[in-house]
Amino acid sequence: AKALSQLRPRQPPILRRHVVRAAPIHVSSVGARATSAVQGEVARAVPVEYHARTGINSRADYETLYNRSIQDPAGFWADLARQFHWEKPWRKDHMSFNFDRRKGQVSTTFFDGARTNICYNAVDRHIEQGRGSQPCFLWEGNDIGEDRVMTFSDVRDEVSRVANWLKSVGIGKGDSVAIYMPMVCELPIAMLACARIGAVHSVVFGGFSAESLSQRIADAKSKVVITASGGARAKKVVPLKQIADKAVQLAAGSGFQVENVLVYEHKSVPKGECAWTEGRDTWYQDAIPQQDRHCPVEWVDSEHPLFLLYTSGSTGNPKGVVHSTGGYMVSAATTTRYIFDLQPGDVYWCTADCGWITGHSYLAYGPLLCGAQSVIFEGVPNYPTPARCWQVVEKYKVRQFYTAPTLVRSLEAQDNKFVTQHDRSSLRILGTVGEPINPRAWMWFFETVGEGRCPIVDTWWQTETGAAMITPLPGAWPCLPGSATLPFFGVLPVILDDKGKELDGEAEGILGMKQAWPSTIRTVKGDHKRFEETYFSAFPGYYFTGDGCKRSADGQYTITGRVDDVINVSGHRVGTAEVEAALASHGACIEAAVVGFDHDIKGQGIYAYVTLHDGNDFSEDIRKDLVKTVREQIGAFAAPDVIHWAPGLPKTRSGKIMRRILRKIAVKKDDELGDTSTLADPGIVQGIIELRGK
Ligand code: PRX
Repeated sequence: AKALSQLRPRQPPILRRHVVRAAPIHVSSVGARATSAVQGEVARAVPVEYHARTGINSRADYETLYNRSIQDPAGFWADLARQFHWEKPWRKDHMSFNFDRRKGQVSTTFFDGARTNICYNAVDRHIEQGRGSQPCFLWEGNDIGEDRVMTFSDVRDEVSRVANWLKSVGIGKGDSVAIYMPMVCELPIAMLACARIGAVHSVVFGGFSAESLSQRIADAKSKVVITASGGARAKKVVPLKQIADKAVQLAAGSGFQVENVLVYEHKSVPKGECAWTEGRDTWYQDAIPQQDRHCPVEWVDSEHPLFLLYTSGSTGNPKGVVHSTGGYMVSAATTTRYIFDLQPGDVYWCTADCGWITGHSYLAYGPLLCGAQSVIFEGVPNYPTPARCWQVVEKYKVRQFYTAPTLVRSLEAQDNKFVTQHDRSSLRILGTVGEPINPRAWMWFFETVGEGRCPIVDTWWQTETGAAMITPLPGAWPCLPGSATLPFFGVLPVILDDKGKELDGEAEGILGMKQAWPSTIRTVKGDHKRFEETYFSAFPGYYFTGDGCKRSADGQYTITGRVDDVINVSGHRVGTAEVEAALASHGACIEAAVVGFDHDIKGQGIYAYVTLHDGNDFSEDIRKDLVKTVREQIGAFAAPDVIHWAPGLPKTRSGKIMRRILRKIAVKKDDELGDTSTLADPGIVQGIIELRGK
């Protein structure tokens, strides 16, 4: 209660400045995402006693290391990289980067000249250090009572078998493999198997539709798909194989042929219920145990691509973000170790799905590289009851718990007894990621879940950054509810104004990065030009994050939300353009415009304005059908929360949709529409308002 009283009503939000568009990025306005998260609540710093085993226990400890990481990044990262095995060392001058297109191709390299293998470092290295019989995966199934423990030795054997199978079907260094799996141990195992032989994994979240999966398979040219017969989410069965079959068929239609599909039999869909294509499909449980459990490691250059992960932006199709091997490995491990104070043997739980970057860096690679025990949870947090998370924490004696604000808010909405009925005394550190956390939810997490004892690390980062970038370090300085606080080692953030000028001291603007860090995105699969245009052209010389940010007088950073047309739904990035394209593909729809709106649980919801062809009535059937179309084309998580019929869309004379107006109408702020005189047809606005709620 004392800490809650530290929250006080927020000052009126500062006037939002309008940001000039810098082609081709559409920067709509600083802090365009008027976050429910932070609005109306301001928090004061909350000091928490925590002694970090990393030795960083004060801001001064941090600053010593941070200053070195900025002044001598090559030396700093080389020192940290020495804990790993490198088959060949890096050159002295191993790091280079160019963030300025005007000076040539944008690029980043780390550990030039070195050769390594991340699977070796994440798994074999621990076995060689005598930790072979230590558990590394603690799997908790969808239903209570289903669990499984795998040791580092078990994982090496299984990874090697899968790697040998991949080789047997012709997969080698540089080939891409699509992975479309539920949260079973075989998912990170498949990732590690690719890494072991230098293949490039492309994990596609199991919530994506056949269309989305096929697009990713074809773009990455994944000749092999690893999937499962099905997946279990609470009482729902996800027919993964059926979706994968359709995706493979769609990819074939677009000219790309998948050659092999490896199918893990999941109890939710027994063998007999799966359609089968002889010659193309192989049961995991039949083929993998036949394989040799030894598979030599393929040493790769530090810059060899480790994985692709598709992510949404403001425009066009999802981009295949490419991460490197050496730099990614060092960033993932170092951030995990310092932010979660993770030591070998710690029981650590990240609730993210491996289909997202958080699952890659902080469920699979980071904890394994640190020699920890990583909980893999197949189910959903409120099944069979909202106590599930805390029951899992109690069962495994979880020390670090890392999740998304949306999960915190959904559990906060339930009775506290679900939390308090389970012993949480093992918890030491709590973490959040993916979207801003509002101070009220933060305080609930801190007091009710963490009993006021655990620092909360609010980590800001992105698919493109590969690892956490702005984050508290536990115990080193007071937590600030709703703020990611300070840059991690090697990270040099800048706050830019709309002209790309760096702002000093206390400031609000657009967040950019001035210096490369080891896990910097290397390129966009197959389109380096698009990579440069997306991230390095809005503000030449800087990596453009797409986020607005405030910096306080003492240098702490608070993210204010996306400044482009990306909506953050439950911590999942959804591109408005993709949802609009899906809606417009519906026969009845002429045009659609999508904006985000504040949502109590999801952070942001999806609000779609839809104009129909003449002769179509605004009916409940069409509404349902439109939502279904988005589910089918992207996935259920991208389904619009609201469909607002529109007689037309508010456009400028040059045809640009004025989303600023649509955002206001969505939240009923009709008196804040601003200047509508530049619209081609100003009368359209009233027509849209009249159809609200219809
Ligand atoms: O807007 C920021 C938000 O999530 C975006 C990145 O999304 P994605 O690439 O899917 O990666 C999510 C997991 C790393 C960012 O541009 N975001 C992420 N973490 C935070 C956040 N917003 C506020 N606070 C955070 N801690």
